[in-house]
Amino acid sequence: MDFPQAFLDVLHAAKRVVVLTGAGISKESGVPTFRDKDGLWARYDPLELATVQAFLDNPRLVWEWYLYRRNLIRDVSPNPGHLALVEIEKHYDDFTLITQNVDGLHRRAGSENILELHGNIVLSKCFECGARFDGEVTLEGGGLPSCHCGGRIRPDVVWFGETLPEKALSGAFEATNRAELFLSIGTSALVHPAASMPLVAKQIGAYLVEVNLEPTPLTGVCDFYVHGKSGEILPEIVKRLGP
Ligand code: APR
Repeated sequence: MDFPQAFLDVLHAAKRVVVLTGAGISKESGVPTFRDKDGLWARYDPLELATVQAFLDNPRLVWEWYLYRRNLIRDVSPNPGHLALVEIEKHYDDFTLITQNVDGLHRRAGSENILELHGNIVLSKCFECGARFDGEVTLEGGGLPSCHCGGRIRPDVVWFGETLPEKALSGAFEATNRAELFLSIGTSALVHPAASMPLVAKQIGAYLVEVNLEPTPLTGVCDFYVHGKSGEILPEIVKRLGP
């Protein structure tokens, strides 16, 4: 695989590196992306299920979808793309992995400095008071889980229209604002504020790389676009980094 010399130079010289990942990095683990039409759920639009309104209108349907995805994620493993990011992290003292994914696969792979912008699908919280709920959610018996305050329990993820967790968001922008190398991997680069992070990095002079199977709004802006699967490209980058 050919990499431009300018990229290899930055890869070796950079001290501050940021990676932003989206659903594409987990695709090779068998987790469908948001814009995939997935067999069982093909007639529903995930973009419409992941909203507060959908939960208010039909909490059972939303929970069915999340429990289906929870089960799916439980049975999959990190792929070579996730594992390569663990290796890349070891090369830099200042490395931040920002993810929009809620599947927890980066953590399971062994990445350490992770900022989860959209929460984590295995966690639940109260819709009303926000209290964490550790019990297992099951739809058997017809009921839906509820909090001691009487509120409904919901998945602890960020839905469309909701604000992102403050700490993760500010940490992500702080890291982005000092990045020398920024990699955007497997994200459609459509959903803000995550989608604005590569642009901010580019603006402050970082070298911007995109790895994706198809062009995105970011492609024309980045310094180096790599067309391909993250599970194949990222291990190649690790090879170029050397021991
Ligand atoms: N390697 C690299 N890129 C891939 C791969 C792969 N193996 N497979 C798919 N892709 C790319 C697709 O081309 C697409 O651009 O990953 C991207 C996945 O896009 P989305 O499904 O839109 O996922 P994402 O960008 O993470 O969505 C952002 O939007 O739906 C909401 O909150 C949800 O976190 C999600 C956010």
